[in-house]
Amino acid sequence: MNKTKIAPSLLAADFGNLQRDIELVNKSDADWHHIDIMDGLFVPNISYGMPVVKTIAQHATKPLDVHLMIVDPDRYIKTFADLGASILTVHYEACTHLHRTLQAIKAEGMKAGVALNPHTNILLLEDVIKDIDVVLVMSVNPGFGGQAFIPETLDKLQIVKKMIQASGRDIRIEIDGGVKVDNIRAIAEAGADMFVAGSAIFNQPDYRQVIDGMRAELANVSPT
Ligand code: DX5
Ligand code: ZN
Repeated sequence: MNKTKIAPSLLAADFGNLQRDIELVNKSDADWHHIDIMDGLFVPNISYGMPVVKTIAQHATKPLDVHLMIVDPDRYIKTFADLGASILTVHYEACTHLHRTLQAIKAEGMKAGVALNPHTNILLLEDVIKDIDVVLVMSVNPGFGGQAFIPETLDKLQIVKKMIQASGRDIRIEIDGGVKVDNIRAIAEAGADMFVAGSAIFNQPDYRQVIDGMRAELANVSPT
């Protein structure tokens, strides 16, 4: 497995200065741009649509990690492939035919991610684990930035890590929601290797400093 990855969530960026914020992430030690798409149906909030994603794609120099919080995500697989997404993550709870959806994402040349809400049992992924590139464990109820990390998620990370080890595949474990400098180490020790952070980064004046602080914490993770 490669080094741990940090993915700032642009949901918490200053949309009046979106280009500036994307460029600040470009210049930082972050690895991905995390893009949250919400439809007001699957989650009780609407984030931003294609013109904004197009702007992000134009200015971003790091790969795009797209998190779809929408019903029937199959409708938009090709659209996000055309926009240049590297990872496309759909919600387990939003897919009637998850296996087919994962094949369709990979057929478009993207890595296939599956996100699970806090209430969803991680073991439900067992039958499709070999078709997944990224498991995204939600550590808040999706829909809003700035919520507190749900502590029970740490147990879930340990379970998914075992499942992935048993599969023998190189699958990333992404954590999303409430990730901060002061909890990232415990989250990494539980098994996550890709960290989404929105408010922890963009609510501070110096984004780079926060990302460097997260990196420093990750450097101290005890080997398991
Ligand atoms: C929430 C989104 C997250 C959100 C994280 O539904 O999926 O990516 O931006 O925000 P923070 O880091 O503020 O919890
Ligand atoms: Zn997200």
